[in-house]
Amino acid sequence: MTEQPTPQELEDLPINLFEYQPLAKAQLSRMAYDYYASGAMDELTLRDNRAAFERRRLRFRVLAGVGERSSRGEVLGSEFSFPVLIAPMAFQGLADPAGELATARAAGAAGTVMVLSTLSNVALEEVVAASSGAVWFQLYVYRDREATQALVRRAEAAGCRALVLTVDAPLLGRRERDIRNRFHLPAGLEAKNLHAAGYGALAPVAGESGLAAYVGSLLDPNLTWDDLSWLRSITSLPVVVKGIVRGDDADLAVEAGAAGIVVSNHGGRQLDTAVATLDCLEEVSAAVAGRVPILLDGGVRRGTDVIKAIALGAQAVLLGRPILWGLGARGEAGVAHVLDLLSAEFDQALALCGCRNLGEIKPDLLV
Ligand code: GLV
Repeated sequence: MTEQPTPQELEDLPINLFEYQPLAKAQLSRMAYDYYASGAMDELTLRDNRAAFERRRLRFRVLAGVGERSSRGEVLGSEFSFPVLIAPMAFQGLADPAGELATARAAGAAGTVMVLSTLSNVALEEVVAASSGAVWFQLYVYRDREATQALVRRAEAAGCRALVLTVDAPLLGRRERDIRNRFHLPAGLEAKNLHAAGYGALAPVAGESGLAAYVGSLLDPNLTWDDLSWLRSITSLPVVVKGIVRGDDADLAVEAGAAGIVVSNHGGRQLDTAVATLDCLEEVSAAVAGRVPILLDGGVRRGTDVIKAIALGAQAVLLGRPILWGLGARGEAGVAHVLDLLSAEFDQALALCGCRNLGEIKPDLLV
């Protein structure tokens, strides 16, 4: 149960998503903050994801009778109260003792979908049980296919509504802050879903990020489109492919049976100087041509960003780091507030753009 803020706390609460980041920074260890905040190498893509939203301008419509509005929608049968889902993010126990449980409760209460990372600190069954809304499971494919299949079985049995296969991480991106901090999981935290398979620990490694070492030794760098077919053959859940930035890859994904596409560069954490996600949305959208839903992540901070992504062809966006900043600053209440702030901004942007619902957000809104 989220505690209500006192009047004084209400006065001091952040008024937008950006303001949560310094609050979280003050609470978190250097290692945890840097892990969440950082991008690969020079962090150019990390910044450009955001800048791509800032570059775009809206051609709003007027006198559209926007007194009654709805932000509701659905994707792959999962309903949302507004078109912002929670992106998969690893190791949320570094931000708050309740970790993914807090995020799941806040997501459910806000009426949106949480995408749970393979690398969560709480077991997926507990996370699904904690949420009153839909949970999708992000999947990393391990070299150990039995362990991978076991994850898929567990996600199905727990009631996850979709699998989200991450395809942009054959190796982990070089995140220099993590190398400097020798990123690892502190005592008491592990990659809980992999405990049974013996891959739960993430220890410090000399001169390297412990996560880079983990990914390098345990995840399969050799995946091809055939593995998407393999995954489809072992599950009845829809498989969403996350980490696409090109129209031709989007087409291959749909041909291989993807039920959805996430336009993503992993929050700028993989290939630095990769194209900003908003900048490739139009191309992906043209290639997909309505065959499957498209989601986008990377750089979303404002309600107007969500409008821009939808105008360029997304059904909804995924929100990443601001959720962690909310979680790190104020736990479940912080995540709830972050979602609330963005939802209110989105509703206002909808009205000011002259739209009454998601279907009225069209490409002509963008210059
Ligand atoms: C994990 O997926 C990460 O990007 O750190």
